[in-house]
Amino acid sequence: MLEKEDFEIRPERPEDKAAIWEINRLAFGGEAEPNLVDKIRNSTGYIPQLSLVAVRQGRVVGHILFSLIEIRLDARTDPPMPALALAPMAVHPDFQSQGIGSALVRKGLEICRDLGHVAVVVIGHPDYYPRFGFTSARSKGLEALFPVPDEAFLAIELMPGSLHGVKGSVVYPPAFEEAI
Ligand SMILES: CC(C)(COP(=O)(O)OP(=O)(O)OC[C@H]1O[C@@H](n2cnc3c(N)ncnc32)[C@H](O)[C@@H]1OP(=O)(O)O)[C@@H](O)C(=O)NCCC(=O)NCCS
Repeated sequence: MLEKEDFEIRPERPEDKAAIWEINRLAFGGEAEPNLVDKIRNSTGYIPQLSLVAVRQGRVVGHILFSLIEIRLDARTDPPMPALALAPMAVHPDFQSQGIGSALVRKGLEICRDLGHVAVVVIGHPDYYPRFGFTSARSKGLEALFPVPDEAFLAIELMPGSLHGVKGSVVYPPAFEEAI
């Protein structure tokens, strides 16, 4: 397990793009996720401070991306509620299970909160995300517009009670179309 001081977490820089693409390709074993990163980066939902890399000895070894989505409320008279999607995240296979992914999630959530965002949704491993405070999105009143198993559809409130009483559907923007 690496210590906090063994790597740095910072926003991506233009020169990190190729490494980010390759880490996502290697971690996921395909081009869908690296292409998703590129599409989100070129979309209106992209928030530069929320594309973070983990750097070890000058080398980018991990990446996490949070971008804007909407919760379309069932009470259609109310405007959609802005939230964030965590997707994708990847750690280079040579550096997995050393704490880098956890550090990216924790730091990422901290920045999301500091920027004033209220909630993050993730569709991901049910054994991984609950340790950071993610719980069932459906139990918080959220629905997806496509089939997703309960245990993989997760959300976290960044401010206590921010999803209290919310009933609505998570709407992913077009950048996600081929990925979900
Ligand atoms: C998932 C991932 C980002 C975690 O990063 P990491 O640096 O390896 O994670 P950490 O070292 O902080 O945490 C390790 C934990 O993650 C778990 N983990 C790693 N890969 C996992 C996977 N594919 N599914 C479920 N859990 C996974 C490990 O079992 C370990 O759990 P433990 O602490 O209970 O033993 C990384 O393993 C990865 O890139 N995987 C492939 C891509 C991927 O699945 N991305 C997430 C999509 S939701």
